[in-house]
Amino acid sequence: MATYLVTGANRGIGLAFARQLLTRGEVVIGTARQPEQAVELADLGGEIQPLDCGDEASVQALAGSLAGRSIDVLINNAGVFPDRGKGLDEVDPQALLDCYRVNALGPLLVLRHLAPNLEDGSRRLCVNIGSQMGSITRAIEGGRGGDYAYSSSKAALNMNSVIAARDYRRRGISVVVLHPGWVHTDMGGSEAPLTPDDSVARMLTVIDGLTPSRTGTFLDLDGTEIPW
Ligand SMILES: NC(=O)c1ccc[n+]([C@@H]2O[C@H](COP(=O)([O-])OP(=O)(O)OC[C@H]3O[C@@H](n4cnc5c(N)ncnc54)[C@H](OP(=O)(O)O)[C@@H]3O)[C@@H](O)[C@H]2O)c1
Repeated sequence: MATYLVTGANRGIGLAFARQLLTRGEVVIGTARQPEQAVELADLGGEIQPLDCGDEASVQALAGSLAGRSIDVLINNAGVFPDRGKGLDEVDPQALLDCYRVNALGPLLVLRHLAPNLEDGSRRLCVNIGSQMGSITRAIEGGRGGDYAYSSSKAALNMNSVIAARDYRRRGISVVVLHPGWVHTDMGGSEAPLTPDDSVARMLTVIDGLTPSRTGTFLDLDGTEIPW
């Protein structure tokens, strides 16, 4: 039995992580921006903690609540996609900065403040849920254009994860980026081929098999590496 902290666990992929981890008997700390509205997460029986991952005061409050508790695996899942299909003429600068705050800065803040909990854990693993849309190589090879805020925030998450993997190696903490596939959620939309449960089952197989030698990598659902 291990302890997993999953951000954005009230719906979508995060909720599926909580469901599957609880089903197999793990301890789950699920975060939600509005815990009182996280009805499905509450019904699963997992612990709920409030968190806005892009707000350092909120992250610090979470770390305070969890002081002294070990966390084996941190899953930075929370994310936003404010500009689907929008071209440069439609980019809202504030929405772009808010997207960076949540997708690129949020996982770093959570890692920074929960690192002592991870050091006390058995896996010492931070999994940042990224996207292949953050792959500059894939954008060069055939990106669809647009989606500036989301794609560049996930590319920034990739860079932040590589740097953090180096920085935290000396503390024994591994950091990887994991792409969940195209998933039928509020974000992914109804045309997505994967259900959250399909995606999470495959991601858990990858996560369960990770060793420290894979720190600093960007992984697909089957555990193969995605080009940066
Ligand atoms: N779905 C896909 O096809 C797909 C593909 C590639 C990558 N991803 C990535 O997978 C992750 C989960 O996506 P999803 O499809 O499950 O999205 P979703 O259904 O839109 O759920 C997003 C989750 O993130 C939370 N969240 C948003 N802003 C937050 C903040 N500032 N602080 C804390 N939590 C916040 C949301 O909470 P609220 O309910 O309070 O808004 C919600 O729980 C994201 O990082 C996303 O980029 C998804």
